[in-house]
Amino acid sequence: MAHLMAGQWLLLLMWMAECAQSRATRARTELLNVCMDAKHHKEKPGPEDKLHDQCSPWKTNACCSTNTSQEDTKDISYLYRFNWNHCGTMTPECKRHFIQDTCLYECSPNLGPWIQQVDQSWRKERILDVPLCKEDCVLWWEDCKSSFTCKSNWLKGWNWTSGHNECPVGASCHPFTFYFPTPAVLCEKIWSHSYKLSNYSRGSGRCIQMWFDPAQGNPNEEVARFYAEVMSGAGLREAWLLVCSLSLVLFCVVS
Ligand SMILES: *[C@@H]1O[C@H](CO)[C@@H](O)[C@H](O)[C@H]1NC(C)=O
Ligand SMILES: *[C@@H]1O[C@H](CO)[C@@H](O)[C@H](O)[C@H]1NC(C)=O
Ligand SMILES: *[C@@H]1O[C@H](CO)[C@@H](O)[C@H](O)[C@H]1NC(C)=O
Repeated sequence: MAHLMAGQWLLLLMWMAECAQSRATRARTELLNVCMDAKHHKEKPGPEDKLHDQCSPWKTNACCSTNTSQEDTKDISYLYRFNWNHCGTMTPECKRHFIQDTCLYECSPNLGPWIQQVDQSWRKERILDVPLCKEDCVLWWEDCKSSFTCKSNWLKGWNWTSGHNECPVGASCHPFTFYFPTPAVLCEKIWSHSYKLSNYSRGSGRCIQMWFDPAQGNPNEEVARFYAEVMSGAGLREAWLLVCSLSLVLFCVVS
């Protein structure tokens, strides 16, 4: 230790601080107010005056374009050629949740903390484990109890030969509750863990809301900021750990 001069220590400290700082700021700018790199998303979020109906809460700042939001409400839209009515007609009270889910996925600029890279032909990024507010998940499940489906993972395993998804051989139609016995199973399994059921309630600032009243602003902005901070905090601790082990090595070499 005596071999290191005060000046050298100061330099080391400055380097450590700078290293930690750059790590933190880089994480922050990537996580907030961003659009994922997927099939229909805009490159950057921005205002969209004419967002359709259920997607309109995002019109002051959205990752979806107006025509994406219009397609969203169609039974088989060009977006994904996905057929909600693969086991008979989905009830309107159930379908509105799937429309809202698509609006959140396509339009929200607040999902940055949960964006992950994926190796898929149709998108480069996905969302993973977005903490969906308890009530939004429970109501989705309640309203879909009387609709039918043939699968619990809707991302994989369909028969697409007709141009839209049909139930694969051996997957029979049952009420939603057969494939999704609880709200958690519905929200977590249906899109391969894009969501997880949060223990937090709407308005807590700790979970993402699928539904919100834009008159009060977008509540998910605060939620994204909170989790971005938590995650860059974790990044910071990681950086410090690296710095500490480096200085230990340095110390051993010097002495
Ligand atoms: C709008 O929809 C058409 C298909 O109807 C599509 O080709 C076009 O790229 C869409 N525009 C944007 C900005 O997404
Ligand atoms: C897929 O669906 C078509 C009818 O649209 C059917 O003829 C075919 O056997 C199905 N294939 C599988 C693997 O389920
Ligand atoms: C979730 O909330 C319940 C009731 O408020 C509480 O008992 C439980 O410990 C919470 N779980 C977590 C993981 O926070």
